[in-house]
Amino acid sequence: MNFKNPKFEISAVGKAQYPTTNLPEIVLVGKSNVGKSSFINTMINRKNLARTSSEPGKTRQINFYNIDDIFYFVDLPGYGYSSMSKREQEKAGGFIEEYLSSRAEIALIIFVIDIRHDPTSDDKLMYDYIVNSGFPFMIIANKADKIAPTKVDARVQDLQNYLNPLKDITFLPFSSEKKIYNDFIWEEIQKHINCI
Ligand code: GTP
Ligand code: MG
Repeated sequence: MNFKNPKFEISAVGKAQYPTTNLPEIVLVGKSNVGKSSFINTMINRKNLARTSSEPGKTRQINFYNIDDIFYFVDLPGYGYSSMSKREQEKAGGFIEEYLSSRAEIALIIFVIDIRHDPTSDDKLMYDYIVNSGFPFMIIANKADKIAPTKVDARVQDLQNYLNPLKDITFLPFSSEKKIYNDFIWEEIQKHINCI
């Protein structure tokens, strides 16, 4: 998908700083280092708009990316990064909870997990929290380039059987590295944003 002017808008630490434009928001949620910020760059064809790092704990605040005044990608801090101080972890957790519990603009939550790893207890808690929030929700199994292409579908099935045995949530593989599967994910996003 090509956009003319995707831009970073604000790094928020509380409600008062969230944008007031009422545009729909597509939110990235997941453990530290699973590739949430990379996902944003890949989907809008920009190398470095969202800051990424091989070290977990890069995104510490709530970053809003305004995509051509059509919607926002909202990059949340990751959770479950044990080397971050307890205070930092609690702070990040507070930002995530305040946002998810109060933000009417959320159009779709994209829950990101690593295709190679079984979901952690934190992932399970987050999964349950999102289901209970009632917001539209999809799951992507990222870093699909790290396993053999022939194994991707079976692995996605296994992960879905574990997290969502009813299979009522869209569950797709993804790879920022290989830039594959983007079209399927855009189709999902478009269903939740009327005007793209
Ligand atoms: P936090 O900000 O700490 O929550 O992490 P994040 O989820 O935003 O992860 P980020 O996008 O910063 O990526 C973490 C690391 O994983 C970086 O080194 C990325 O290059 C790498 N990465 C992200 N997506 C992929 C992918 O699809 N495949 C591979 N092989 N590496 C990836
Ligand atoms: Mg990040």
